[in-house]
Amino acid sequence: VHRALVIVAAGSGTRLGHGIPKAAVTLGVGSILEHACQAVTPELGFELIVLVLPEQSSHHEVLSAPATALAHRTGSQVVITSGGAARTDSVRAGSQAVQKHAELQGWDGPVHVLVHDAARALTPPEVFSRVLQALADGAEAVTPAVPVTDTIKQVQSEGSAERVERTLPRSALRAVQTPQGFTLQFLERAFAHIEQLPTERASQLTDEAMIAEDLNTEVRVVPGHPHALKITTETDLITARALLAEQAR
Ligand code: CTP
Ligand code: MG
Repeated sequence: VHRALVIVAAGSGTRLGHGIPKAAVTLGVGSILEHACQAVTPELGFELIVLVLPEQSSHHEVLSAPATALAHRTGSQVVITSGGAARTDSVRAGSQAVQKHAELQGWDGPVHVLVHDAARALTPPEVFSRVLQALADGAEAVTPAVPVTDTIKQVQSEGSAERVERTLPRSALRAVQTPQGFTLQFLERAFAHIEQLPTERASQLTDEAMIAEDLNTEVRVVPGHPHALKITTETDLITARALLAEQAR
């Protein structure tokens, strides 16, 4: 079995609103992407790590900076590639880079690919391990998830007004995180499937596990971690900063 990791960091960070790509935003010492890279320990055994960065960015230097240290520390080959307009496009670009590498290196047998959001910068290595283990146990698609603490209601909109339709039973709800894990074979099938979808439906796919649902491929769930929160808004950035400060004590 060969293992590869794709870190998608090509988003613009609109909701964070710093005016620079989110992965380049400073979090304590270093960028968000740098922190995401620090979770990748040599023990995880990735032969290849693909960093998917914004296509045209004046922050390319900051964003590509962690690559050398990452290669040194993990012994993995680190490759940089350009992302696309939507997250799915960036994951596709990363997945294609893995495919190309696998061909060039003559990899045979299964390839396990983890797809991780740079924005989940503080995800601990144990979450990566759990996803890899589920793939080793034979899963084709895996997602880490945590229980939902809020009461979630489905609403219906009528113009600008909203009303509650129903309450979803919380015990069956999970908030999913990354890294999600897939066989390379599944990812190839998944992207071939997306090509066939109307653009509107394709744009609703916010993760690759959703494609698995479309394809009736079972998605295994493993425990995530509260520190794997996605830094989306300023509040999340403040939380991440506090977690880092706590870890440094
Ligand atoms: N991502 C990406 N390419 C895109 C969009 C998102 O690689 N075209 C990545 C982001 O860099 C991030 C992860 O996917 O690591 C999750 O996306 P999100 O949190 O939505 O990040 P952004 O798209 O950058 O933020 P926003 O939606 O607020 O603009
Ligand atoms: Mg986004």
